[in-house]
Amino acid sequence: MNKAMDHKQLATILQWYDMSGVDVIVADQPTDWFEISKRPPVPASIVRQTPNKTSRTATPAPPARAAKIAPKIARADHSLAAPKTELAVLEASKLSAKANTVEELRAALEQFDGCSLKNMAKNTCFADGNPRSSLMLIGEAPGRDEDLAGLPFVGRDGQLLDKMLQAAKLDRSTDVWLTNTVFWRPPGNRTPTQAETDICRPFLERQIELIKPQVIVALGGTSAKTLLRTKSGIMRLRGKWVELELNGQTYQLLPTLHPSHLFRTPAAKKLAWQDLLMIKEKLREKQN
Ligand code: URA
Repeated sequence: MNKAMDHKQLATILQWYDMSGVDVIVADQPTDWFEISKRPPVPASIVRQTPNKTSRTATPAPPARAAKIAPKIARADHSLAAPKTELAVLEASKLSAKANTVEELRAALEQFDGCSLKNMAKNTCFADGNPRSSLMLIGEAPGRDEDLAGLPFVGRDGQLLDKMLQAAKLDRSTDVWLTNTVFWRPPGNRTPTQAETDICRPFLERQIELIKPQVIVALGGTSAKTLLRTKSGIMRLRGKWVELELNGQTYQLLPTLHPSHLFRTPAAKKLAWQDLLMIKEKLREKQN
């Protein structure tokens, strides 16, 4: 640390990082990009001719160089990541299949270390609500408040969701079961990657099998795409019932807009309300 920096300055810079969304540490040691960027750039011909790919990544590159070599590094990482993901999916499938109750599944998830999101998260956000309810709501991923509380949908998005449920005469603690497509907060609230949703999917699907909801609601594009294994966007999928087949069971699923979308696009609340009325109607049909 720079000795000239006193505690007040340090607190100010941390506060500034926090406000800018930098709220996780991604390496054990800080990298001084200003210092590195003062070094003379390595000529492009040398970068191309270096025979050993790993030696290029040993010294951190300044941002301009990093941009040039990034696609090559990304490709190299991807080929190594694929078998690792498959192994993690296999492990997740084995562990989740053994769980015969929701509490056993929660315990299995707590023990599972195959998803790298867990390394940076403070808590596992398994689920919340009534495990005997007919309605299961599946969001994208825990955010900052959820990570701190270890529960899904407790922050700003969750409060809006609670209000929407109340408007439809549904209570969060008695009428719904809430979970997400991934169970740990992605750093900086980024969208979970395909590998992360693939690894968490066995726990999500087993949760559905154990809860046996009459109606599933996929909140937002990531949830809908993950559950339906589609690349279609949420505006195309929302508001239409689809059948989700899991291990010989068929579930009625409605994709709808995520609460965070409604903050960004308040006019879309009308569509969300239409979807909520469809959900109420389906629950009524199922209960009669
Ligand atoms: N957004 C989500 O998708 N899930 C949460 O739990 C919170 C916010």
